[in-house]
Amino acid sequence: MLLEVRDLHVEFHTRDGVARAVNGVSYAVEAGETLAVLGESGSGKSVTAQAVMGILDMPPGRITAGEVLFEGRDLLKLKEEERRKVRGAEMAMIFQDALSSLNPVLTVGDQLGEMFTVHRGMSRKDARAKAVELMDRVRIPAARERVRQYPHQFSGGMRQRIMIAMAMALEPKLIIADEPTTALDVTVQAQVMELLAELQREFRMGLILITHDLGVVADVADKIAVMYAGRIVESAPVHDIYKAPAHPYTRGLLDSIPRLDQKGRELYAIKGLPPNLTRIPPGCAFHPRCPMAQEVCRTDVPPLYDVTESDAERGSACHFWRECLHG
Ligand SMILES: Nc1ncnc2c1ncn2[C@@H]1O[C@H](COP(=O)(O)OP(=O)(O)O)[C@@H](O)[C@H]1O
Ligand code: SF4
Ligand SMILES: [Mg+2]
Repeated sequence: MLLEVRDLHVEFHTRDGVARAVNGVSYAVEAGETLAVLGESGSGKSVTAQAVMGILDMPPGRITAGEVLFEGRDLLKLKEEERRKVRGAEMAMIFQDALSSLNPVLTVGDQLGEMFTVHRGMSRKDARAKAVELMDRVRIPAARERVRQYPHQFSGGMRQRIMIAMAMALEPKLIIADEPTTALDVTVQAQVMELLAELQREFRMGLILITHDLGVVADVADKIAVMYAGRIVESAPVHDIYKAPAHPYTRGLLDSIPRLDQKGRELYAIKGLPPNLTRIPPGCAFHPRCPMAQEVCRTDVPPLYDVTESDAERGSACHFWRECLHG
């Protein structure tokens, strides 16, 4: 297994109390596989990713338990210096906002080139040639000229391509893309997502794609982990989830995707708001919003039940997963 996160717990000490942002998350990604992590804003998707990458703000954040196994090695046990070597060379991250991730006072060529001068000890001239090659690879037109430009001279979509190029530079084994297309226009979103998926296949990288948009994952993901209040509430191969969700929260997310064949129909929205993480509801955290909630849901935390029906592993943290799946 390329990456295996085991029972990860992260909390933040805030003025409001302890925010339990990640409460026992486990997921795994193999080489060449894409895992989509899905959930409303505030469900702990980014914090989990930051813990994996080793870029979590500590303090205020604190990893209280868990393991992050990368090719079998627990990254949480490494010294910062060793950790830094893994970052960039072995795993890289793509963020939503390229403009704040790129350095505004360096040309994109210098920033891309730095990956090779710093990490690979290349000469400036060779690094520049590599930068142009990378820009070509992410299909930025006129790369040879544009390599001299600054980030603000590129459109949002082109900047996101530069971020992808930066992440790809050292040919990492794992890429974590955190809402990589959220800030873009819909048509540009599709192009950037396609590029990412294509590169992932070509290089057989593991890809963790974080998104709150179920619409974009159907074509690119192999499997999905749905997060709610810092837990994985459903995990399954992508096709199984689209066929029939095994958790009412997943069903709510699916029902709130706009569909072309149902134009004019009022869009479903999950009622209420995600919980305050300093005061997560007892029992099933989703119960105040769940249309299927029963008495037991208020008191008993549902474990991640094994709901595997075919050969691909599947889990749901719902006491009534059978009713959800077959109802
Ligand atoms: N720097 C921080 N300081 C305090 N709390 C934080 C910080 N970052 C994240 N959190 C807490 O963790 C929760 C989950 O955040 P995040 O993982 O970013 O959610 P998302 O699923 O939208 O990516 C937030 O709602 C917040 O309560
Ligand atoms: S355990 Fe109960 S409240 Fe939670 S999702 Fe299932 S039915 Fe809804
Ligand atoms: Mg996030």
